[in-house]
Amino acid sequence: MLNTIDLDKIDVTSAPPQEEPGRQYYFMAKCRQYTKRFVAEHGRCPTAHVQNYGCQMNARDSEKLTGILESVGYEITDTEEADFVIYNTCTVRENANNKVWGRLGYLGAYKKKHPQMKIALCGCMMQEAEVLEKLKKSYRYVNLVFGTHNIYKFAELLCTALAQEGMVIDVWEDTDKIVEDLPMERKYAFKSGVNIMFGCNNFCSYCIVPYVRGRERSRRPQDILREIERLAADGVVEIMLLGQNVNSYGKNLEKPMTFARLLSEIEQIEGIRRIRFMTSHPKDLSDELIEVMGKSKKICNHLHLPLQSGSSRILKEMNRQYDKEQYLALVGKIRKAVPDIALTTDIIVGFPGETEEDFSETMDVVRQVGYESAFTFIYSKRTGTPAAAKQDQVPEEVVKDRFDRLLKEVQECAFRRAEALTGRTEEVLVEEVNSQDCSLVSGRMGNNFIVHFPGGKELIGTIVNVRLKECKGFYFYGELAE
Ligand code: 5AD
Ligand code: SF4
Repeated sequence: MLNTIDLDKIDVTSAPPQEEPGRQYYFMAKCRQYTKRFVAEHGRCPTAHVQNYGCQMNARDSEKLTGILESVGYEITDTEEADFVIYNTCTVRENANNKVWGRLGYLGAYKKKHPQMKIALCGCMMQEAEVLEKLKKSYRYVNLVFGTHNIYKFAELLCTALAQEGMVIDVWEDTDKIVEDLPMERKYAFKSGVNIMFGCNNFCSYCIVPYVRGRERSRRPQDILREIERLAADGVVEIMLLGQNVNSYGKNLEKPMTFARLLSEIEQIEGIRRIRFMTSHPKDLSDELIEVMGKSKKICNHLHLPLQSGSSRILKEMNRQYDKEQYLALVGKIRKAVPDIALTTDIIVGFPGETEEDFSETMDVVRQVGYESAFTFIYSKRTGTPAAAKQDQVPEEVVKDRFDRLLKEVQECAFRRAEALTGRTEEVLVEEVNSQDCSLVSGRMGNNFIVHFPGGKELIGTIVNVRLKECKGFYFYGELAE
């Protein structure tokens, strides 16, 4: 926890300060008065549950929410049967939304029996007008709704929601604000995500993210470096730099700075042994970055490079700003600079107008690149995006058939790539005791493959050499090596 401010010393009888993050600490102190009263009345701490949906950026935001809830005196629990439940939602595909609506119905039934409980919703889905309308109309039992731009105001909003009945809604259209130095919790002691930028300016034609996460904003390098230094001092050895498009980091800073330069500075921080980042847009991946990756001792040999489609025609329709040849040339350059790099990707099947020929181009790229892993998605129509207005949506059964064929190809390819590593000895960061067999621990290699091997919990958080004995497709069994 980065929070060093003593909330009990804050005077909550005076008016709240205007400046951030001081204002939020003031409201945290106020929330703490509420939790203290709760303890006096019930003889136990109030419990809170944070449910995360979606990407790594959301996961990091959920850690921030958890950090604040803990600071104000909530006990975090794994179950939704809690005094305070918050869903950090995702809306990138329709099924992400459906999950939330489903769970919310269940939560409403639970709340009927426990009327004291408070339900909060935040994240990308809340930025959509029709979602807000639906909530206001049919989900009156939700107590607090806020979006992606004002998540830093969580303590203030929580305070308001605790003090009153009914629904508190605060959703902003956009923001240029980045608030530093709020408390946050970490799921793992030894690794952490670090936001380097927020938002996206790319407007890929199928994607709702630019509409719900707003324009690109980069954090100042000194703030990022200071956060990582503190994490290192706290025992963190691996960091994952997070942004929708990390390769365009720094373009809108007062003093512009490239992502490659930022990486070089992070590399100097003592104690940090591994650096990962996500997500890279191929159009912005520079030669400078490839050079830095080639030389670095700390940047992991893994790159997530979303392809989306292998057809140049579809890529144009998607507004991706690269074509098949450019993508393949980029992969060639990266492989040359970092020969043992593991490549992973995102692919969408069934974009409007996708023909069998377009699809075979995607299959061709998959075969040529030989990804270590790929996330495959069925195109999901998102209201408000340019692609949603297209007439030539691909029939469901055609999409399903292509999806199955792609998945098979991707899996076979990943298996071949993994199998080729068998017998090698790799550096592994041990993450946890294996959930199925407690005589084993599980860890991750630089290339992001997972290996299970005999060992005890004292190894968690350390980097050890492991010999890969047997490949099981997406993971390995191994043994500690000298
Ligand atoms: N339909 C399907 N997949 C999508 N993605 C983004 N928007 C959509 C959509 N409308 C996928 C992209 C992106 C990943 C995070 O989600 O592949 O890289
Ligand atoms: Fe969406 Fe494209 Fe931005 Fe990624 S780069 S978040 S796919 S608009």
